[in-house]
Amino acid sequence: MSFKALFALATLAISVTAAPQPRAVCSQGRIASNAACCKWFDVLDDIQTNLFDGSECGEEAHESLRLTFHDAIGFSKSMTEQGKFGGGGADGSIMAFSEIETNFHANIGVDEIVEEQRPFAIKHEVSFGDFIQFAGAVGVSNCAGGPRLQFLTGRSNVSQASPDLLVPEPSDATDKIFSRMADAGFSITDTVNLLISHTVAAQDHVDPTIPGTPFDSTPSQFDAQFLVETLLTGTLFPGNGSNVGEELSAQHGTFRLQSDFEISRDARSACDWQSLIVNHNTMVQKFESVMTRLATVGHNPFTLVDCSEVIPVPKKANFGAPTLPAGTTLKDIDASCRASPFPTLKADPGPATSVAAVPPS
Ligand code: HEM
Ligand SMILES: *[C@@H]1O[C@H](CO)[C@@H](O)[C@H](O)[C@H]1NC(C)=O
Ligand SMILES: *[C@@H]1O[C@H](CO)[C@@H](O)[C@H](O)[C@H]1NC(C)=O
Repeated sequence: MSFKALFALATLAISVTAAPQPRAVCSQGRIASNAACCKWFDVLDDIQTNLFDGSECGEEAHESLRLTFHDAIGFSKSMTEQGKFGGGGADGSIMAFSEIETNFHANIGVDEIVEEQRPFAIKHEVSFGDFIQFAGAVGVSNCAGGPRLQFLTGRSNVSQASPDLLVPEPSDATDKIFSRMADAGFSITDTVNLLISHTVAAQDHVDPTIPGTPFDSTPSQFDAQFLVETLLTGTLFPGNGSNVGEELSAQHGTFRLQSDFEISRDARSACDWQSLIVNHNTMVQKFESVMTRLATVGHNPFTLVDCSEVIPVPKKANFGAPTLPAGTTLKDIDASCRASPFPTLKADPGPATSVAAVPPS
């Protein structure tokens, strides 16, 4: 090695070790990378106890994850290009202007979690945009096998109400959903990756007669069951017949959105959907990756401070491969990816069962 190269290496080593690490000691001796992160440990303690009922992956965790989307997706490049206000993305406007935005048809039901979250944001003096993304990340970290989402702080608390009609509806055609998502910066693959979220989800309002009906058999586990079960041939409505935005599901007690039905089978997205089934770690990584972008729609992430260390490490889960619900076989799968065969999965033993609703809390 030449003297020059050695010298370059030596200075590199010095600059690496000498780089000052901005560290801060926060409450209970917890260490943060930046003093701006300390208050988030206090927010964490408060919401784990008082919003998520003791770190549960229950209704509030699910609703908080949904809210990250309904705030962020209020962002339209095409409207901005036409000289109109296209929304500010993940800016907290859904909370600041809840009297406007929660009345949008696609936001039905989000008023509940907005009202539950707002007092925490005000008490801890954090911006609504930061709080919504933080609560979603903490909530989903409570789900076994879940993602550990990035959390950045520093979103302005100043926003304007989002225009209506930017949040996708379950009754929208796939074309419409894909073009809406593209207008907010998300490809078809990104959209499929975002829909992994529906593995920890239930509905209250598409069929209001059966609140808490989950989209899969394991709504508190961040597993691939939702992706598998959505591909089963539909046979029944869990409630009182068909509703706008609903498709036949395959198991008593589970609910299938029309949009999930279509996207799981559409030639443009079916292979992405199927590809997520076989490897839990890959599925989680893809969700983590696309969520870094959802959480910063309308922001330059380089202007925000990374406080990801505050987000809890989710409980590890060794789910093994996803299974087919008892009473079904691989023949009941609507395999929709032409390029590769559906993976061979085992069926749970015994007769068909009914899935319990997510209890209200
Ligand atoms: C393609 C677009 C999407 C459509 C059409 C859609 C539609 C819906 C609908 C209709 C519900 C049921 C609401 C209710 O009746 O209470 C729901 C629930 C949910 N959605 Fe989505 N969604 C989409 C994308 C997303 C994304 C991107 C996320 C998050 C990253 C998300 C997270 C959730 C969660 C966690 C729930 C469960 C809420 C609960 O259990 O209370 N969704 N979604
Ligand atoms: C954010 O704005 C809301 C009004 O929309 C206000 O109630 C809240 O106190 C503000 N929070 C901060 C940290 O400025
Ligand atoms: C179901 O529909 C029937 C007929 O429309 C109605 O009489 C009944 O009250 C409905 N049940 C629920 C739980 O909404």
